[in-house]
This record gives sequence, C-alpha cells and structure tokens, in this order.
Amino acid sequence: MTDPVIAQNGPYPMELEAGEYWWCACGHSKTQPFCDGSHQGTGFNPVQMTLTEKSQVYLCGCKYTSTPPFCDGSHDLLEPDAD
Ligand code: FES
Repeated sequence: MTDPVIAQNGPYPMELEAGEYWWCACGHSKTQPFCDGSHQGTGFNPVQMTLTEKSQVYLCGCKYTSTPPFCDGSHDLLEPDAD
C-alpha cells in the first residue's frame, strides 16, 4: 500500500446533517473530504461515519490522522514539502 495523497494540509470544518458519510482515506477523491470511488486499486478503503444529529465536525484532509475520519492534529507534523 502506498502513502495516501494529501488532499489538503488541514481539516475540513463542516456542519453536517444527521446521516451516513464516507470519508476519503486515499486522498484521490475529487469530492473531498468524501469518497467518490477513486480509491479503486489504491489499497485504501473509505471510512464510514454516522451522525445521529446535526454536528460540527473537522474531517481530516491530510489523510494521516490516527483517528479517522477526524483531524487529530497530525497535519502539523507533516513535512512542509509533502503536500
Ligand atoms: S488534517 Fe489530517 S490530521 Fe489534521
């Protein structure tokens, strides 16, 4: 498995309605931070997220979080030239 693509070197702050979402883990999706099926063949799979109520979330854009799909601050540790 290769490294994920850094879609954005920081989180996506979003207010989302209750529902089911699929967070892009590979970084190739054109509909960040959500999956569009581009992970085919990358070895990555999207991460399901279920919200039971309208919520403010910070979804990881760098794809290096250890708590997917949420930002854990790991983007601060990435090399400046990595994105
Ligand atoms: S955007 Fe990935 S850890 Fe913050």
